[in-house]
Amino acid sequence: MVVLTPTIIFFNTLLVTSFMFIVSMSNPQGNFESATAFSSNPILNMSRLKESIASVNWSEYFEVNKDNSKTNVVSDPLYVVNETYLDPYGPNVQFILFTRNNPPYNLKMNAHENFVSSYFNYSRPTKIIIHGFISSIKETVFQMSKNAYLETGDYNVIGMDWSVLCEFEYFTAMRGAQIAGAYLGAFINYLVEEGVDLENIHVIGHSLGAHVAAMGADKIKAGKIHRITGLDPAGPGYNDVPAIYRLDPSDAKLVDVIHTNMRLLSLSQPQGHLDFYPNGGRFQPGCPELSDIWTVTNSLECNHGRAYYYFAETIRNKRAFKSYRCAHVDVQKLDMCIIPTEVYMGQEDTYEVLDCSKNLLKVDRAIQTNDWQMAVEKCLLSNVSWYGLYFLKTKAVPPYSFS
Ligand SMILES: *[C@@H]1O[C@H](CO)[C@@H](O)[C@H](O)[C@H]1NC(C)=O
Ligand SMILES: *[C@@H]1O[C@H](CO)[C@@H](O)[C@H](O)[C@H]1NC(C)=O
Ligand SMILES: *[C@@H]1O[C@H](CO)[C@@H](O)[C@H](O)[C@H]1NC(C)=O
Ligand SMILES: *[C@@H]1O[C@H](CO)[C@@H](O)[C@H](O)[C@H]1NC(C)=O
Ligand SMILES: *[C@@H]1O[C@H](CO)[C@@H](O)[C@H](O)[C@H]1NC(C)=O
Repeated sequence: MVVLTPTIIFFNTLLVTSFMFIVSMSNPQGNFESATAFSSNPILNMSRLKESIASVNWSEYFEVNKDNSKTNVVSDPLYVVNETYLDPYGPNVQFILFTRNNPPYNLKMNAHENFVSSYFNYSRPTKIIIHGFISSIKETVFQMSKNAYLETGDYNVIGMDWSVLCEFEYFTAMRGAQIAGAYLGAFINYLVEEGVDLENIHVIGHSLGAHVAAMGADKIKAGKIHRITGLDPAGPGYNDVPAIYRLDPSDAKLVDVIHTNMRLLSLSQPQGHLDFYPNGGRFQPGCPELSDIWTVTNSLECNHGRAYYYFAETIRNKRAFKSYRCAHVDVQKLDMCIIPTEVYMGQEDTYEVLDCSKNLLKVDRAIQTNDWQMAVEKCLLSNVSWYGLYFLKTKAVPPYSFS
């Protein structure tokens, strides 16, 4: 893992942020329909992406000041760990198994002896956690969820480290995500060969890691994994790409998504069977304002990062975030999220499958809109389970839940 200077982080954030503006301008509604209307594939056309970035007029967005000494990235010493389990001569993507009572174990792919001598336990649920852009498994994004799982139960927690493929700049990292996705698919295929049940596998990905999960899922031969949780799936570059390159409900039997910085660093449109929009999904209480150049990086990191703080809290407190269902597929109209439910964010056992031919239509007709009707029609046509969009509020400081 390279040591990143604040300047690089800062520049990358600018790059990402500027691309976000291009993306949001090309898709001003960010709505359900445009999410499915794909005309081009910017992931594969790198020259077009680079042209778009080059054409950004920075001063339209920021008062750019060359002195960036005030920007700094704080890393939490609690979560800095001994990373000797990562093999510096190993592959670009490594899978480290963490269990309650054993030291971390580097799982090699297609190495039966290695797998047999690991502490993998077939009776326990398997959680594969994938970090995002400029990160690694020594960062908070992995450590928080890993610790929350292992402090509350017995799991095979596998940290997928693809830091080598996403450490420089965003567009290279998007390519890296495709490569990492292929590794993940191969790894899960290998787990299946070793007798692991796909039903026991839950993949959790933050930011670009959510798309890595999706691209990996597409490569699984034996069927679908049980669940993917997308934590604020990366937005820049992913708004108008075909579903095979990004997270969508076809990637697992259950896909749930937490949106915390949508239209800035992440996607706004629904991407799962259930999409949660804490505090509206864009800005989180307690994060710095996006108002000036000194806080822009911290603000984006804070809002984007909240997805994994909230998620870790859902592991420790199973009834943390009770949610309201939204009566509108257009997330711009989050004030229409007024239908109380017994659904808790992150808690699969509380997720209600809406029978679109029945329950969905029972919702107060006064708040039904064209978009809502459209969702119902889509649901009826596709004859699939339709879960919905959810809203919830959090506090500004941990613990974030009110309960
Ligand atoms: C990629 O984008 C460039 C610039 O817009 C364009 O000239 C080129 O034809 C595109 N390539 C493909 C394969 O679409
Ligand atoms: C960039 O935007 C600023 C502020 O709107 C404007 O004054 C300037 O002329 C623009 N530069 C270019 C090259 O378009
Ligand atoms: C990291 O862990 C290894 C193996 O457990 C140990 O040998 C090494 O001393 C540790 N390094 C640090 C800096 O704690
Ligand atoms: C495997 O996990 C199950 C369930 O947690 C436990 O009962 C069993 O003892 C474990 N087996 C081993 C070998 O640790
Ligand atoms: C829709 O799903 C229901 C329940 O699973 C099934 O009985 C019905 O045949 C399906 N209809 C179509 C058109 O596939």
